[in-house]
Amino acid sequence: MQLQPPVINIFEKAARKAGKTLLRDFGEIENLQIHSKNIGDFVTNADIKTQKILLDTLKYFYPDATYITEEEDTIKGNEEIIVIDPIDGTTNFIHGIPFIGIVIGRIFEGEITDGIIFNPILNEFYWASKGKGSWCNNKRLRVSKRNDLINSLIGTGIPHANQIYSKYLEEIDVISKNCSGLRRMGAASIDLAFVAAGKLDAYWERNLNIWDVSAGVLLVKEAGGKVTKPNGDEWTIESKDILASNSIIHEKINKKLDII
Ligand code: IPD
Ligand code: CA
Ligand code: CA
Repeated sequence: MQLQPPVINIFEKAARKAGKTLLRDFGEIENLQIHSKNIGDFVTNADIKTQKILLDTLKYFYPDATYITEEEDTIKGNEEIIVIDPIDGTTNFIHGIPFIGIVIGRIFEGEITDGIIFNPILNEFYWASKGKGSWCNNKRLRVSKRNDLINSLIGTGIPHANQIYSKYLEEIDVISKNCSGLRRMGAASIDLAFVAAGKLDAYWERNLNIWDVSAGVLLVKEAGGKVTKPNGDEWTIESKDILASNSIIHEKINKKLDII
């Protein structure tokens, strides 16, 4: 078993503390479903509350870091960047679906060096550090070995409301005709964690933010997978669109997504 680096211990401490409150809130949602008009406010509060708990703990250990968070403007600090998504999978959370993640990533000199995803509902703690592998609850993660697209299970995000982009139905059409199934998990972090764990063979999505994917990108790479833009170009921390895979089927998918 790989010893967790100190930075992962600190991220875990923050995430487990925030996770306790989130787990309680998840239970509360069931009661709130009946009074649905309260759910919006409740979840906004849960997001903000979770982020505050994370920031309080992280700032104690990294007072001078720069913080990029979903719920607040960037807190400018030094060149060490900590990225936070307090609840990835908010819509799942609202509906009582247990696929959510507290996501914390560390970026240094344009590179993701460490990251964690904690699902407090399922008690799954994922972490990865550069050169130290990907782990979930002390088990080493490896991407799948599937090499034929037609037997592969592929994750994606389905855009909705004002996020719709013109060719998404064509993308879904071409991929679904050539694989064994598509999945929409509802949390980008969990999609990437599942690619790292070999549950999904690949995943693509567009219009994401760095807080959705920071830890997940490193998890996939450290589990032996590949991450690019959907057309095969290099993925950087500024990229909005992503294709992550077990690496073996990567080119087959990016060729299909590139013709669109
Ligand atoms: C969302 C989830 C979802 C993805 C969206 C994200 P949020 O994050 O990751 O899977 O399709 O694009 O915005 O809003 O639940 O933190
Ligand atoms: Ca998110
Ligand atoms: Ca979020």
